[in-house]
Amino acid sequence: MRQELAQYFSVDPTQITLYWKGRVALYAILKALDIKAGDEIILPAFTCVVVVNPILYLGAKPVFVDIDPKTHNMDIEKIGSKITPNTRVILAQNTFGLSPDLDEILKIADQYNLTVIEDCTHGFGGSYKGIPNGMIADVSFFSTQWNKPFSTVIGGFAVSKNSDLARKLTEYEAELIRPGLKDELTIKTLFFTRKRISSKLYWPAIELYRWLSKNNLILGSSQGDELQKPAMPASFFKGISRSQIAIGTREVEKVTEYIDHRKSIAMEFDRLLLDLQIEPPFQPDYAEHTFLKYPLLVKNREEFFNLAHKDKIELGDWFLSPIHPVISDYDRFNYPYGENPIAEKISQHIINLPTNFHVNDEQLSEIIQFIMRNRDGIYHSYNEMVKSC
Ligand SMILES: Cc1ncc(COP(=O)(O)O)c(C=O)c1O
Repeated sequence: MRQELAQYFSVDPTQITLYWKGRVALYAILKALDIKAGDEIILPAFTCVVVVNPILYLGAKPVFVDIDPKTHNMDIEKIGSKITPNTRVILAQNTFGLSPDLDEILKIADQYNLTVIEDCTHGFGGSYKGIPNGMIADVSFFSTQWNKPFSTVIGGFAVSKNSDLARKLTEYEAELIRPGLKDELTIKTLFFTRKRISSKLYWPAIELYRWLSKNNLILGSSQGDELQKPAMPASFFKGISRSQIAIGTREVEKVTEYIDHRKSIAMEFDRLLLDLQIEPPFQPDYAEHTFLKYPLLVKNREEFFNLAHKDKIELGDWFLSPIHPVISDYDRFNYPYGENPIAEKISQHIINLPTNFHVNDEQLSEIIQFIMRNRDGIYHSYNEMVKSC
């Protein structure tokens, strides 16, 4: 897998490090940058709480920047006012496979001598001004969890252009906790099962999986109380297993096919929305988006989900909170609720349509019909949403 990824990014294999999860890659990068108590890390107020956790594990402070409703990424104009003498890093996130304007972020980072880390967990396979995502800033990390561009059940990796960082990350990789036999078997079983679950079984399967993983009965993306409090779980700093590597080596070869599929599904959704006079997601000239998820804003999300559930339509719920999936006691994660009104409003109304490989022509047509039937429940634009609520 390391070789295949190195080939994909045209880097030396020593510049790729592999982890049990993407969040572990982020933690390793922050450690390699010597992030410590009191340091501040700038990140979008529209992310997953597992991105916030590694910052808090190191005693550093997450500083959230509101998003631009057009891009779903950090509003670049708002970054400057968040920089203090303690700022060390800007986390530039690729949200739903939609690229941020990295040159603008890098300019700000240069001005204040900050490191930019690309969070490419949603963005493998896309590009920015012709450069593959993950190769624009000094260092980047990716996830290979279930819903990601290619999956090893759970998993992650880092790519470092900077040779000092690459050396440190390679040293840490050797120190990572090794997965046990139970981990290896679980990965294999889950991968085999997921491959055989069709979109029709999406809702019962996801509910069962979420219940089992919440109760620690199965290996989930998040374990125990990781989503309740920022305390580092035992054996968090774990390396990748042999089973993940074996799966990843095969899957990475198919990634272009997977991404072409996502892009073609997204084009169908674009056409549909334009017909319905709904504004599709913004596609700038500077990026080749990969559409890991296709976002839409709905008037009543709960009702929309109930309808989807009834009609057996697969819908995603990312990001239903500025620090998904946390919906209360935000201060436990240092999130100042009320300070990022755009992200907070969008996170109350967003749903995402699937673009994954399971979405075949029949399912696509069912999703399209579902959207047409329920078009009155969809906002035509972000501005319409703001005016009406
Ligand atoms: C934006 C973002 N960054 C990082 C991660 C962490 O990835 P992983 O689940 O592999 O730890 C996620 C999780 O899905 C995410 O949504």
